[in-house]
Amino acid sequence: MDSFILIGFMGAGKSTIGKILAKSLKCEFIDTDSAIETKEGMSINSIFQKYGEEYFRNAETELLKLLSGKKAVIATGGGMPMREINRKLIKESGKVVFLRAKDETLIDRLSGDTQRPLLKGDIKERIKTIRAQREETYTKLSDYIVDTDDKTPEETAETIVKELA
Ligand code: S3P
Repeated sequence: MDSFILIGFMGAGKSTIGKILAKSLKCEFIDTDSAIETKEGMSINSIFQKYGEEYFRNAETELLKLLSGKKAVIATGGGMPMREINRKLIKESGKVVFLRAKDETLIDRLSGDTQRPLLKGDIKERIKTIRAQREETYTKLSDYIVDTDDKTPEETAETIVKELA
């Protein structure tokens, strides 16, 4: 089995869908945010506050290097594909699935979120601005795109299995 790397914006459902997909494929599930939180012994919010975003981004790259060659379903943090080295590592790791969602869907799913440092302030404006900066990168990096707006996580996982597994 190839590994599956799930990419997409915050709130796209990477972790939820990744868990279901891994169960259905009977393989390991790795969530890069959780792995970094465990290694650092603190939340993403605290990592950003204490050490800054650059430190977190370096931790993401180091983790991707460690995961290279591992067979798993990997849910990435939404910003991971924005570094060139990460894109190379992601592409080499397996099939890349972009979980796409519209601004309105993301705003619905993320309103009230307090766990994501990049969404502090005007959450609607943050989502629209950051998503517009990333959409093309996600699209170009992906082998397969699933629109998640009108699907349950189970339906999205099923679609991925049918199309790619
Ligand atoms: C980020 C997304 C988050 C987390 C961090 C930064 C981003 O992960 O890595 O808050 O830059 O989009 P999720 O996509 O799992 O929310």
